[in-house]
Amino acid sequence: MSAKSESDIVILAIESSCDDTAAAVIQNGKILSNKVASQGIHELYGGVVPELASRAHQQNIVPVVDVALKEAGIGLNQLTAIAFTKGPGLIGSLMVGSSFAKSLAVSLDIPLIGIHHMQAHVLAHFIDDPKPSFPFLCLTVSGGHTQIVKMTSYFEGEVLGKTIDDAAGEAFDKSAKILGLPYPGGPLIDKYAKEGNPDAFPFPQPQIPNLDFSFSGLKTSILYFIQKQVKLNPNFVEENLADLCASVQKAILKHLMKKIILASDQTGIKEISLAGGVSANSGLRFAIFEEGKKRNWNTYIPAFEYCTDNAAMIAMAAHYKFLEQSFESMDTAPFAR
Ligand code: KG4
Ligand code: ZN
Repeated sequence: MSAKSESDIVILAIESSCDDTAAAVIQNGKILSNKVASQGIHELYGGVVPELASRAHQQNIVPVVDVALKEAGIGLNQLTAIAFTKGPGLIGSLMVGSSFAKSLAVSLDIPLIGIHHMQAHVLAHFIDDPKPSFPFLCLTVSGGHTQIVKMTSYFEGEVLGKTIDDAAGEAFDKSAKILGLPYPGGPLIDKYAKEGNPDAFPFPQPQIPNLDFSFSGLKTSILYFIQKQVKLNPNFVEENLADLCASVQKAILKHLMKKIILASDQTGIKEISLAGGVSANSGLRFAIFEEGKKRNWNTYIPAFEYCTDNAAMIAMAAHYKFLEQSFESMDTAPFAR
């Protein structure tokens, strides 16, 4: 077990907003463990089934916390706070994490820290070096959100633009579903795109003003295009899967890149970061770094394991909340949106 001094800040963090049950331990700002149990069951249904997600969280949460504590070499008596995702997310899923966190905090008589999921995605940038300096822009792209935020301090920021319909992750997952791929389709599109020609099928770009995004039109055009082609050749998708994935990915990335470039131009900020599950996309990681080289940006992307949902990012955010002594009352309730 690692030694604990009076001034140590040791936090157990829990993330359960969607379909990953995750726990992490952080000591004085350094991540000691980061564990995730993913729920394969949703693959069968083509998307996350909230009822099943809550049940799986109930089954997974104790073992995941146990492994996270063991790997960190931390005992319950060494913890100084318990953190949890307060929202946004699936309410049943959030309830499992928040109830668990609350019970543990009460039984150990230590503070409870509630964390906003999207803030945590952004604060994942402070886990490892190099870290962005304020103010920085963060393109936050996940299954539920797509936004460009101007961060001025750890917990203060301004949303400069956001999606008016689907999130970027949804655009990946829904396109994948049209192509007959299982949920979550984003990583599969990424995989097949590597062998395909991104110019094979030029899908139209959304025309949305300012720094907002829109992906629903793109999804519809992909759907109509596939329906038309399949009538002519029933094997069209199988025969062209790599090219289709590469073309879909190109269309999504082009829209994202256009907006982050515009945001940098409009604000004059060249500290540019990428966060959220879609930041795991290899094409997007490459594109933002390449664009950054041309435009003299300092570009930041968290390590792969801190991009998709994880508890290390909750732990990192909780560490800064602890420094501010910003705690949650015991009658707190999670929120869905
Ligand atoms: O942040 P996240 O793990 O969960 C939410 O907060 O929503 O993001 C999940 C989203 C899913 O839509 C998933 O398909 C997408 O991130 N995703 C990817 C990749 N890895 C995860 N999308 C494209 N390429 C990837 N490699
Ligand atoms: Zn997320």
